[in-house]
Amino acid sequence: MSKFSPPPGTSDIFPEEISCWHSLEDAARRIFPLYGYAEMRTPVFEYTEVFKKGIGDETEVVQKEMYTFEDRGGRSLTLRPEGTAGIIRSLAGTDVMNGNEKRVYYIGPMFRGERPAAGRRRQFHQIGAENAGRVAPELDAESIALLLHYLDELGITGYKLLLNTRASSEDRKPAEDSLRAYFANTISGMCPDCKNRLERNVWRILDCKQEQCRDAISKTPDIAALFGEPSRKYFEKVCAALSAMGIHFEVDSRLVRGLDYYVHTVFEVTHPGLGAQNAIAGGGRYEINVPESDKAIVGVGFAAGLERLIMAQQSLGVKQVQENSAPLVFLIGLGEKARNENLGLAARLRRSGISTGAEVEEKSMKACMRGANRVNAKFTVIRGDNELAKGSVVLKNMADGSQTEMNSDALLPHLKSLVK
Ligand code: HAM
Repeated sequence: MSKFSPPPGTSDIFPEEISCWHSLEDAARRIFPLYGYAEMRTPVFEYTEVFKKGIGDETEVVQKEMYTFEDRGGRSLTLRPEGTAGIIRSLAGTDVMNGNEKRVYYIGPMFRGERPAAGRRRQFHQIGAENAGRVAPELDAESIALLLHYLDELGITGYKLLLNTRASSEDRKPAEDSLRAYFANTISGMCPDCKNRLERNVWRILDCKQEQCRDAISKTPDIAALFGEPSRKYFEKVCAALSAMGIHFEVDSRLVRGLDYYVHTVFEVTHPGLGAQNAIAGGGRYEINVPESDKAIVGVGFAAGLERLIMAQQSLGVKQVQENSAPLVFLIGLGEKARNENLGLAARLRRSGISTGAEVEEKSMKACMRGANRVNAKFTVIRGDNELAKGSVVLKNMADGSQTEMNSDALLPHLKSLVK
């Protein structure tokens, strides 16, 4: 790490890498509206309550990973660890409260104080989509279909869709009791966090990544059969809708996901090209509590991690088109008058859609040419007092060195014909 590195778990995204990011964002802007989603932006920080109430006090994210600070008035604020809670906070004032549907997507940075590792960042980026206001198994399946359509558009193949149900909060109780009874027998050998979770939120144990807990978790009895009938029916309909769309999935009865707002459907997409942090996207149906309101807002959605999507693309050798920021022309003025004239010329060319660079300081011809080569200009436009007096410019093709003198009025139409 050099002294110019950003803080651990964060990254600079350099111009050479940015085309990958733009292509992920452009694909979202193409695909998501086909399903009726419009882009929305919420603040990167919220009142801490939004996440505590929304994501759940007992989750790892809320307990250990939030970047929380106080504003000047002493109110607690938190950098968003995910996008859903803020989106729902914002939609709470709209007619989603009355069962009307709102479809929105978002793109932006999220912050979690996790231990940095490959694919695990403290500032990472998500593209997410939320369909809020209505409950129907078909909408859950449609949200998954949108995610997979998006992955296909990015050229990401070879992924696996894992699916499970967490049932409704009412239908969960018998399964929860049975899970608690099972872990009561294994808890003595498990980690301190799981010991706490046993009474407070036994489902979270299933999400524990500690080595000492792995064995007990892997032998958990199949509790899905204990969910109430309405929730089992709901899940069957989600599976049927996915099958009707030809979507392959694997039911993973231990998939609970790390956020407590989920009810019914939960899903995750994993990719083999990533190593330990192999989830490229995750989501599910939720009921989210918003501060100052006693009514939960319902919805279904997902978020994909952009860093991980890029890793998946790289593992598959998906080709990215490099964006070209090299100027078409580079203006060289020999003498103060020509350099001043070039300022106006550069402005006119740029406003006509011609990418233009210029040397603004007094430099030798050789140094100006070096500057043009450094920025990879295709042409240079050279003029000094002589050319100014004649009203002409010299256009030099940097690839073959050929030069043409032309009337300065002819320059713009000529350059335009080159970029057509
Ligand atoms: P999540 O599973 O916590 O869900 O995050 C979604 C995706 O964000 C993950 O699958 C992963 O690709 C990426 N991600 C998460 N944490 C990190 C990290 N530390 N470093 C790099 N990438 C990361 C959510 O955030 C939910 N809000 C998804 C959702 C939307 N559920 C319903 N609607």
